[in-house]
Amino acid sequence: MILFIGISKWVWCLFLVQCWSQHVRSSPFGKRRYPSVRYRWIKEVTTIQEYELWDSHQIKEELERWASHYPQFVRLTTSQDAYGLPTAGRAEDCPFDEGDGCKNYILTVQDFEAYPEGSEASRHLPEVLWSGELHGDERVGPTAVLEATSLLLSAAACEALPRRNLMPDGDDEEIQKAWEREQQLADTCRTELRQFGIEDQHRKWLARLLSTRRLVVVPTANALGYYRSQRTENGVDANRDFPFDLTDPKQCMTTIAGRTLNEVFREHLFQLSLTFHGGTEVVSYEWGAPSYEGFASPDDIAQSAIGGAYSRFAGGWSTTKPYIYGNMNELVYPVRGGMEDWAYAGSWDPDRVIACEPDSFGGYPKEKTIYNNSTLRVFNMLIETSHKKIPHKSTLGTSMDVMRSDTEANGHVSRNIRLALLSLELVQPYLSVSSINGYSFTDDIVPQYPQEDLYSCKVTKALNVSSALTELTIQWTVGGALHIDDTQLWYGKWDDALMNELSCWSQPSAEMLKDVLTKASPIGTTSSKGGFASGSPVGGAGATFSALIDTSSFEVGDEIIVIALAEVDKGWKDQPKNTKPQVPPQSHIVNARTNPEWYHEVDGSVIQGRIQWFSTPATLHVVSSSSSESVVETQSRYKPSNVSPTSSSAETHERKGEAFVKITTLLTVLAFFGAILLMGQIILKRRFRIAKRNRVLQYVDGESVELPGISQKNGYADQEIL
Ligand SMILES: *[C@@H]1O[C@H](CO)[C@@H](O)[C@H](O)[C@H]1NC(C)=O
Ligand SMILES: *[C@@H]1O[C@H](CO)[C@@H](O)[C@H](O)[C@H]1NC(C)=O
Ligand SMILES: *[C@@H]1O[C@H](CO)[C@@H](O)[C@H](O)[C@H]1NC(C)=O
Ligand SMILES: [Zn+2]
Repeated sequence: MILFIGISKWVWCLFLVQCWSQHVRSSPFGKRRYPSVRYRWIKEVTTIQEYELWDSHQIKEELERWASHYPQFVRLTTSQDAYGLPTAGRAEDCPFDEGDGCKNYILTVQDFEAYPEGSEASRHLPEVLWSGELHGDERVGPTAVLEATSLLLSAAACEALPRRNLMPDGDDEEIQKAWEREQQLADTCRTELRQFGIEDQHRKWLARLLSTRRLVVVPTANALGYYRSQRTENGVDANRDFPFDLTDPKQCMTTIAGRTLNEVFREHLFQLSLTFHGGTEVVSYEWGAPSYEGFASPDDIAQSAIGGAYSRFAGGWSTTKPYIYGNMNELVYPVRGGMEDWAYAGSWDPDRVIACEPDSFGGYPKEKTIYNNSTLRVFNMLIETSHKKIPHKSTLGTSMDVMRSDTEANGHVSRNIRLALLSLELVQPYLSVSSINGYSFTDDIVPQYPQEDLYSCKVTKALNVSSALTELTIQWTVGGALHIDDTQLWYGKWDDALMNELSCWSQPSAEMLKDVLTKASPIGTTSSKGGFASGSPVGGAGATFSALIDTSSFEVGDEIIVIALAEVDKGWKDQPKNTKPQVPPQSHIVNARTNPEWYHEVDGSVIQGRIQWFSTPATLHVVSSSSSESVVETQSRYKPSNVSPTSSSAETHERKGEAFVKITTLLTVLAFFGAILLMGQIILKRRFRIAKRNRVLQYVDGESVELPGISQKNGYADQEIL
């Protein structure tokens, strides 16, 4: 046994060195290396990262590295540069920032190549905000939002490869070379992500989230407090500094933290936002102000549905329960001047809002806290991450299987990474035509590919189908929603009217489509829970549906359009009896999917309410039945010749191909080690599993966790410490 282990350890080491050096040369992720954990010589675990809390300096350096490494996805600024705000603090604070005091960093994440700044497509991206902290000694949030951002960037940069724009269409040798190189990079980064549990469907999901939303991350709004590891910004509590349920205009917008967020909220139309804190474990929403004790908000149904989804996807582990969720007045305590209620109601509940006239930092213009009907209206949920504001390192979790909530690798950082990602998922419904007769499209959303005209998706989401087939089974998924009330599939011949109506990013009019298209016959249900409505979704985010289309009347040369539509989350309009004030739902997110009259805009963003949500169109080219394959992608980014039409996933083949090459290489070089290697590997994997389990259990045993409890609420309420 020992001999087996010894030999296979050596073999794996050789193999690993080869892979590792290749990876270092060609990794598209830049310089950052994940610190390796034990068992360095087992390939599967070398990229697992045990999360650690980031300090202010590290945050600044990493943000700047992203800005230079991912110019296609990232814009970095500060509230000093963007809004001319002063800094809080003195010369000795944040010495790594220019000038006195601490700068307040603001990171915007968007697919700037697919949705160029200033374009109509960019204005229509749904917007999400993540605020890492307002209290500088509550330290899980900044790391969680930045690790989540890092994961999005890695996955999207990987999924963008090989870039479609480079796809060779002639014999140009240079282009061919570049294309092959990008294919190699794509293989490398996909393998690397798989090593810590980011499978193909996860990578595609993350790439879609980055590429179809605009995310603004303010990792440390209270930058001074975070640098000093103090709750306040120089003695002032930033989470009592917002004009809601306050009476003294001198007592709001006194901090740079508050002003930073105020400026960011004025400039965007966020639909979902997260505000991270620590000191207990709760996901919480309106109301959280004394004036509304005992009452539900007008958007309570949706808030509760989303809060529940956050809690489930975040999950718990052996000693830590999933987050309880509910309103702040009950689960935390009511406050005056809190950011949460301000972000939700500061623009439409004028009796509770005053315009601020603070004296600090030379004052702040009063007009900046006078809001019109479009601003705020955000679900800005309070996430109390952990009982300890600075939890022990061993409870933060690891990057292994971070997409799953049910492993012992879960921890305070891992679960809030997932929670944050879910806010991006839920901000807007989406549909995707996923397979035809069991043949899955290779790509869902490919980042860095311009979406401005119809050409891009008409070419990329396209299949040749044999004229011999008289009916096709089409599958599609619906994501970004917690309940799918109804979903349908429509099809017909592409024509000029459709060409004018459709684009790859915008939503067409249902009436127009129904005039020219035919409804497919559904197979099975047309309504269901969304992928995140109960626990972790298995295999991708969306709920899957299928329908049959009759193709017998189409002829060789015809182009068929297939488009799916859904109506979702209609129940969000409902209201409990104790709603106060008695008005319809006021949030952008509820109105965006239940109220077609809803329209709001600020400079860079637009929200148009709608009931029906559409997929990007898929195109089927009817080709002569003599073609060898009955269904084949016309322009796969991977060699279509490797793909069989009956496969459920083209990438399974890609992976099998890769494994095949590796195994043959190994067998040729080390033919007679083959059997030993296999046995050794099995033993090692088992040993590793046991070791990892023990390690996790150790952490868990060593940590004394006070159990959460609503019963402790009053204790917290007296101290106002969260
Ligand atoms: C509402 O206020 C925002 C600033 O918060 C501004 O950008 C927008 O243009 C205003 N809308 C109207 C209709 O005045
Ligand atoms: C804001 O919206 C309310 C209804 O929600 C309307 O009564 C009011 O006139 C609007 N105000 C402005 C300035 O558009
Ligand atoms: C799809 O069909 C067209 C027209 O018959 C043909 O030129 C093209 O090569 C086909 N593509 C694939 C990948 O088979
Ligand atoms: Zn706090």
